[in-house]
Amino acid sequence: MRLAILGGGGFRVPLVHRALLADTLRGDAPITEVVLCDTDARRLRAIGAVLDRQRDAHRAAHGEPGLAVRAETGLAAALDGCDIVFSAIRVGGMPGRVLDERVALAAGVLGQETVGAGGISYGLRTLPVAGEIARTTAERAPGAWVVNFTNPAGLVTEAMSAVLGDRVIGICDSPVGLGRRAARALGLDPAGVGLDYAGLNHLGWLRGLHADGRDRLPDLLADEAALSSFEEGRLFGPSWLRALGALPNEYLHYYYMARESRASIAETVAGGGETRGEQLVDQQEAFYRDAAARPAEAYELWDRARLEREETYMADNRRAAGGVERDEEDLDGGGYEQVALAVMRAIARDEPARLIVNVRNRGAIAGLDGDAVVEVPCLVDAAGAGPLAVGALTGHQSSLVQAVKAVEREIVDAVRTGSRTPALRAFATHPLVDSVATARTLLDGYLKAFPELERVLPRP
Ligand code: G6P
Ligand code: MN
Repeated sequence: MRLAILGGGGFRVPLVHRALLADTLRGDAPITEVVLCDTDARRLRAIGAVLDRQRDAHRAAHGEPGLAVRAETGLAAALDGCDIVFSAIRVGGMPGRVLDERVALAAGVLGQETVGAGGISYGLRTLPVAGEIARTTAERAPGAWVVNFTNPAGLVTEAMSAVLGDRVIGICDSPVGLGRRAARALGLDPAGVGLDYAGLNHLGWLRGLHADGRDRLPDLLADEAALSSFEEGRLFGPSWLRALGALPNEYLHYYYMARESRASIAETVAGGGETRGEQLVDQQEAFYRDAAARPAEAYELWDRARLEREETYMADNRRAAGGVERDEEDLDGGGYEQVALAVMRAIARDEPARLIVNVRNRGAIAGLDGDAVVEVPCLVDAAGAGPLAVGALTGHQSSLVQAVKAVEREIVDAVRTGSRTPALRAFATHPLVDSVATARTLLDGYLKAFPELERVLPRP
């Protein structure tokens, strides 16, 4: 089968390639061919050089050919005849992420990639491109499945599903990461644990952890030492987790500790420090520049930059929560490339798997309409990802999910109609924006920062 990777020059593509190569050793790997598609030829060359080295090492170690890889800069040519599309693009690149963060911080609110004002800006400029990808896929590869990692992943998946229906599946590594860490804290093998998780992307809760026919989450919540042994336990603190009766996704830190997390990022930049986007611009620019100059060293350069990225992951939150470190085991494997591979295998080989992904609700979460994309456990096989029924959300969970889904719908509406009024409503009604005046400042600020947004939203 042929896999097209959109955003093929992206920094995390070698992780996906590594997972696909390892999969070929099982003898029944569905993917045999990869097309890398990127609008930036320089990035494609650098990542291509890293992939060449990975393939050479694979051949030397296993005597196996690896995968056929080719590069394309045109979307239609990349999509022609492919069976699976992995979309991991970043509209506006890493510099766009920095503007998302900086405009929000300047307005006195959280400056973050996918959450709050920054996520709204990111969504506004990404939806038109996601729509084009969906339409081109429907035209050029009508039978293909789309695995979407493009952020904001829930919103983007929902917009694409208007064209592709249930043939688009959104993925994220955070729910399974949370489940794995919680299982290990209880001394359980993560592979044998059933996760009851529900919400939206970057806005969900682990409400149950089933092993040997029993829900072990109450045991975990009662165990102070176990709770303090993993990232989310330390991030939120045992007493708040007990009060909630669930384990929140790490991104809920921005809601539950809104004041502290905003202040800690603001303090960092006030002291001349960098936002997360700026850190990554530095790390990745150095990689792409050096890899172009010294392609023979591309792999080593990439690997060094990758380690640095992983070591500094969530550094902003860590400062706020004090000494929260991500475990070594979490950095290696089980990340988003494993989620992507699991989805592809389940679909392509009709190997049923229970995975937490983003799909249309179809009744899984009561109180949300059937077309709302939600992040819930699904049964994934050749027929796609079918959401499994989840228990009712609590009043608190439901109200937050409804509020953020309403914001997402305003974003979709703004892009569909080209109108600024729904965009203003999106900023103003987001739970992390506390004033309509600030919402106006945000909308004006982003329109100024991103000239392309003027074209997305030409009308008042
Ligand atoms: C996780 C999330 C992604 C997010 C990324 C940010 O992988 O699931 O949605 O984009 O973290 O990490 P970064 O290293 O880019 O700050
Ligand atoms: Mn994610």
